Formats: sequence, structure tokens, C-alpha cells
Amino acid sequence: MNENQVSQTEYIAAVRANSARYAAEHGTPPIAFVLTLGCQQNEADSEKLAGMAEEMGYEIADKPDDASLILVNTCAIREHAEKRALSLVGQYKHLKAKRPDLVIGMCGCMVVQEHRIEEIKHRYPYVDLLFGTSSLYRFPELLAQKLERKKRILFHDPDDRTVAEGMPIRRTSTYRAWVSVMYGCNNFCSYCIVPYVRGRERSRAKDAIVREVRELVENGYRDITLLGQNVNSYGKDLSEQCDFADLLSELDTIEGDYLLHFMTSHPKDATRKLIDVMASSRHIAHHFHLPMQSGSDRVLQAMNRHYDMEKYLGIVDYIREKMPDAVITSDIIVGFPEESEEEFEETLNALKRVRFDMIYSFIYSPRKGTPAAEIEAQISPEVKSARFDRLLAVQNEISLEKNQPLQGMALRVLCDGVSKNNDAVYQGRTEGGKIVFFDGSQELEGRFLTIKIERADTFALYGTIIEK
Ligand code: 5AD
Ligand code: SF4
Repeated sequence: MNENQVSQTEYIAAVRANSARYAAEHGTPPIAFVLTLGCQQNEADSEKLAGMAEEMGYEIADKPDDASLILVNTCAIREHAEKRALSLVGQYKHLKAKRPDLVIGMCGCMVVQEHRIEEIKHRYPYVDLLFGTSSLYRFPELLAQKLERKKRILFHDPDDRTVAEGMPIRRTSTYRAWVSVMYGCNNFCSYCIVPYVRGRERSRAKDAIVREVRELVENGYRDITLLGQNVNSYGKDLSEQCDFADLLSELDTIEGDYLLHFMTSHPKDATRKLIDVMASSRHIAHHFHLPMQSGSDRVLQAMNRHYDMEKYLGIVDYIREKMPDAVITSDIIVGFPEESEEEFEETLNALKRVRFDMIYSFIYSPRKGTPAAEIEAQISPEVKSARFDRLLAVQNEISLEKNQPLQGMALRVLCDGVSKNNDAVYQGRTEGGKIVFFDGSQELEGRFLTIKIERADTFALYGTIIEK
């Protein structure tokens, strides 16, 4: 435990005393609601925020209605995510009018940016508490200050490189878990806000990660995803000689019935060693999420990605050579500034050449303070959205063609329980993350099943259980 956490323990105790007073007065503990926007890293951060709130005597609820504390964990990756956070916070204003003691907090990537802090300071006076990504572990301290001093705490993230260990975590699932292996990003892709809002790369110590994964496996977790903005940079900042492939090799020695996933990998440093470790492992899922972003060398260079298509295709070919069953997925951005029609078509051709199982596609969104946002020749919204539709049409056909040969096969699927959209069916995911629907029952949730695939469409597989 480091110095900072010792002092956090004191703040946790202070807020806990406050919660006990509230409980004595109201006959029920105060309620906290944490809303998460954005990526898996934010999901993982929210599990820590909820864990800390629980330690501070709050009961965690899944809606804001009766809460004494609302925390919005924001995302800044695209403009849409920021607008959503502001509109959600706007909706909580009326709750504050009803209950003036309600504390409304915002944290995460959006509120590290100075212009957003200023905006919230002046236009959202009912936001009481604000802190950024690298101050996450200081949440108890900032909340204690807010409760004690009764005035707004709008905390500007310092350049804090603390890798806090030992924070309480309130995991949302009993069988799927996130484990952060590193924080921050040093890559500065020219379109991306992440390096500005999550700071420089810092890796967790290997032993701490191994201990956490071992405990999860011992507690029955079946599917563990290692998180980092670029997991391939893992270990570069540690004194101990250990790269990401070494970390995976060590984790793979943990006994148990579980799968390890990881994301995200940057192609510029996805090594053959990493692929070899995956191929020969017992627990590492044959699933590679390898963001390509564009199929044009000129655009990749303008994006500051440090690889070209020859290098990218070389990695894909090596993955398929070593793991013919690998599921390969990607991120693609359309409408990067100055992207020409021909360059966009290079991306379409790259999709046809690589044949990803699935892609996450994004319309380029200018982010204040990033180099790409300064480029004058931005692509019009109409052209961006037309390209987006064409990209999806090409990929959807490929996804369908990739899924169809799975018909008739028996696949191992981790059951996630009843489907969120249709309570007549159950759903789960394959090793490669594909969604499977089947007839099931509640006790199967969190268990591996063998399912015979009977039908496949673009986005999902459908089958029947042949082994429980
Ligand atoms: N506009 C659109 N998409 C973006 N991404 C990152 N920044 C932007 C942006 N400014 C996408 C990239 C990244 C994924 C997480 O989000 O494809 O891999
Ligand atoms: Fe953003 Fe690039 Fe870092 Fe990924 S690697 S978080 S896209 S800057």
C-alpha cells in the first residue's frame, strides 16, 4: 500500500461516519448511483468507484432516483459521448432541486479538459464534485472535502503517475472481469484525445496483476479481459524485464477453467513473440482485436500510426498461420481530414483483403487540442456518413460470410443468462466474442456450454446446447 492510499483510508472512514449518521437519521443507508459512458477502461474504473462508495457506507443502486450521490464517469473519445454526458447531467438537475443535499459528481476523460471544466463550472452549477482519470483513487478524499466544506470541489487533474493498488472493486459480474494492466497512452495518434486525458503510460507491477487474476480464477471467474490503451507497451516503464508476452505466459500458468482476453493492441508493436505465446497457451482466447483505422498508407501516416499496410497485413497473416481459428476484429475511422475517395476505397479493399470477423466503425470526430482537428480540409458530414454506410455494407457481407461456415460446428460458449432484448432466449459469447442465442435456463449463467450452431447471420449465431 502506498502513501496515498493510507491517507485515502482515513477519508473513507470520515465519509463512512457521515453515512452512518445519515442511516441513523433516515433508517436506511445513503444510496450511490454510478453511470458509466465509454470504453471498458471506464467500466473498470466505475467498478472501483462503486467499490470505494460501498466502503464509504453507500448502498449502490442501478438508478439515480433516490440517490444521495450520483457520479457520471464520462468519455471524451468522440463529441457524441461528451454531449451525452452533459445531457444526462442536465437531467439530474431536477433531482437536486428536490433534494439539495444530493451530490452530483463528474469524473473520467471529459472532465480533464480545461475547456470542459470551465463549462461545467459556469453552466452546470449543480455539479458539486469533479475529478479526472488520474485522480480516481482520490475519490474518497475529494468527496470527504465536499461533504465537510459544503462547497464545490472542481479538481484539476495533476500529472499524477501513481499506480494505485488495493482499491476496493465492486465487480458487476461474478464470472466476467476486467483487469487493468496499464494506464495511459504515449502514442498520440493525431485524431485521439486519450493521451491528453489519460496521461502517460504506466504499467502495474506484474505480481499485482498475477495476484488479481489468480484470485479471480479462484473465485470462479471464467472470462478475464486485460485492459490497457496499448497493452503491447506493457512493462516498458517497469524496472523489471517483462513485456506483455511475458506477462501473458505467466498468467497462463494459473490453473483453472477460464479464458484470458486482452485489448487493445497497437499494430506498430504487436510482436511475433506475443502471437506465439497466444498460439501455444492454454487459456488465452484466440481473439485478436487489432485496430487498423485506415487501409491507406498516406492516411495512416497522417494519423501518426507508425505502421503501413504491408506491416499490418504481415501481422494478420502471421496470426492466421499460427491460429487458423483466430477471430480478428478491428476499429476503423472514416472521414479522417483530407481522406480522398481513393483513400477511402483503399480501406474498403483492405477490409476485403483482411476479412475481419467484425469491426467497430467510427465517423471521425474532431477533438479539441489534437493535431487532426487543426487540419483545414475536414470532410463534410454528408460525405462522412455516406462513407460510413458503404463501409458497413462491405463489412456486413464479410461478417456474414465469416459466420456461415460455423453452422454445424460445436462451439464453447460462456452463458450470459437471459437475453437483454428478448427474455425468451438465452445468450452467451464464443471464445472469439461472437454472440450466440439458444434455449437455456437461469442456472446456466456464468457456465461454459457446448453449443451446436444451427444458423448464422451477420451479427449473431443461433444454436442448441449439446453439453452443459
Ligand atoms: N473520432 C472517431 N473515432 C475515434 N477513435 C479514437 N478517436 C477518434 C475520433 N476522434 C476510435 C479509434 C479507436 C477507438 C477506440 O475509437 O478507432 O481505436
Ligand atoms: Fe488513442 Fe492511438 Fe493511444 Fe489508442 S493508441 S488510445 S487510438 S492515441
